[in-house]
Amino acid sequence: MEIASSMTDDVLIVHGGTPIEGEIKVRGAKNLVPKAMVAALLGSSPSRLRNVPDIRDVRVVRGLLQLHGVTVRTGEEPGELYMDPSRVERANVADIDAHAGSSRIPILLCGPLLHRLGHAFIPGLGGCDIGGRPVDFHFDVLRQFGATIDKRADGQYLEAPRGLRGCKIRLPYPSVGSTEQVLLTAVLAEGVTELSNAAVEPEIEDLICVLQKMGAMISMDTDRTIRITGVDRLEGYTHRALPDRLETASWASAALATKGSVYVRGAAQREMMTFLNVYRKVGGAFEIDDEGIRFWHPGGPLNAIALETDVHPGFQTDWQQPLVVALTQASGLSIVHETVYESRLGFTSALNQMGAHIQLYRECLGGSACRFGQRNFLHSAVVSGPTTLQGADLVIPDLRGGFSYLIAALAAQGTSRVHGIDLINRGYENFIKKLEDLGAKVERPA
Ligand code: EPU
Repeated sequence: MEIASSMTDDVLIVHGGTPIEGEIKVRGAKNLVPKAMVAALLGSSPSRLRNVPDIRDVRVVRGLLQLHGVTVRTGEEPGELYMDPSRVERANVADIDAHAGSSRIPILLCGPLLHRLGHAFIPGLGGCDIGGRPVDFHFDVLRQFGATIDKRADGQYLEAPRGLRGCKIRLPYPSVGSTEQVLLTAVLAEGVTELSNAAVEPEIEDLICVLQKMGAMISMDTDRTIRITGVDRLEGYTHRALPDRLETASWASAALATKGSVYVRGAAQREMMTFLNVYRKVGGAFEIDDEGIRFWHPGGPLNAIALETDVHPGFQTDWQQPLVVALTQASGLSIVHETVYESRLGFTSALNQMGAHIQLYRECLGGSACRFGQRNFLHSAVVSGPTTLQGADLVIPDLRGGFSYLIAALAAQGTSRVHGIDLINRGYENFIKKLEDLGAKVERPA
C-alpha cells in the first residue's frame, strides 16, 4: 500500500506475537467528560470535574470554553478540572472554527450558549468517519425549543429571539448526542420538556447526575422517556466522571486477541455488564474487584459468536471493532450485525490483508432487521477463524478502528507499521505508555 509521506511522523512500529500482560488505569469516560464540561457553562458558579483524562476531545472543549470566556484550570487533585463560567461572553467566530474542527462536541454548546448569550455559532463538525454522521436531529430539536438557524458557508448561526421554551420531542432514533442536546437545552428552558425515544447510555445517566447536582429537575421513565422541568438558575457542580467503559473493553479485547492478561484499574462492572456476557461467551475470562477488572485469555480455543450492536443496554457499537479482532482468533463462523452506524465495518479490509477472513454483507445477518437492511450498506460481517495474522502497513481509519489495528498488530506475527496514530489520542489517554507498561514491543520510527 502507498503511504503518503506526510503521515510518516505519525507512525507506531509494532512487533507482534507477544501477549500483553500487566496493569493499566482508565479514567473518566470520553463520551461523558466533554459533555459535563459543556454543562459547566449552564452554572452561575464554578464547577469541578474529577477523573478527567488527558485526551484530545477534552482539550478541544477546554479551548472552546475558554474562547467563550470560561476560566478553565487544573484543579487541586490530579485529573480535576475547575471551570468558572461567570464571565461568559461572545467569542470570535474564526477562533471557534480553528478550535473545533476535530470534534463533534461543539454542537452541544448550542443550548447553553443560546441561554447565556442569545446566540451561538457552530462550525463544521469533525469526528470519526464511520458513516454519514448527520446532525439533523440536533437542529430539529433546537428549532422545537424556539431557536432559529441560519446555515452559512462557514457554519450554523443560531439565535433564540424569544428565549427557549420546553416542548414535546420524539427522536426518530435514540441518538446519544441528540438526547444530550435536549438535556442541555431543556434544563434552563421555560416549562416542561418531554423527550421520548431517548438514549439511555450510562454516560447520559451520568450527565443527568451532573445536571441534577446543578439544580435541574429531570426524571426518567422506564420507556426511554425523559421529563425535564426547566428552572431559572443552575449552580456549579462537583462530580467524578464515570469510568470509560469503551476504553476498558478495548484493553479487554487486546488481552483476548494476544492471549494475554490485563488488569484495568478504574473499570466498573455496572456499565460493562453486556460486554462481560459477550466476553465470557467468546471464551474470555474476567475477575472483578472493588478497584477494577482483570481480563484474560484462559487458554484453549475461543468460541465463534453471533453479535449485534445496539443502543444501551445492548452491545455498544464502540465495543465492536476491537472485539472483531479477537473474533478472528475464534474457531468457526462469527456473525456481526452493526445496527448503530451504517458504515463501521470498513476497517475489516485491512484485517483481511493481514490474513483474516471477514466477508461483509448488505443484508441484516443474525437476529433482527435494522434500519440499514434496505439501504445498501455493508453493515453485517461473517468472521471465519481462527486465522494467523501477519504484520502489515496499516492506516488508521477512525478512533476505535485505529485501536483495533493496534490490537491486530500486537496479535500478528512479525512487524506492523501503524500510520495515523495521533487519531487515537482523541480518546485513549497515554496509550503508547500503557502499551509499553503491558510489555508490548512498540517503537516510534527513528
Ligand atoms: N443520527 C442521525 N442524525 C442525528 C444524530 C444521529 O441520523 O442528528 C444517527 C447517526 O448517524 C447514527 C445514530 O443516529 O447512525 C446514532 O448516533 P448518536 O447520535 O447516538 O451518536 P453520537 O452522539 O454522534 C456518541 C459517541 C459515539 C458513539 C455513539 C453511540 C460521543 C462524542 N460519541 O456519538 O462514540 O458511538 O454515541 O453510542 O459521545 C467513539 O467513542 O468512538 C464514538 C464514535
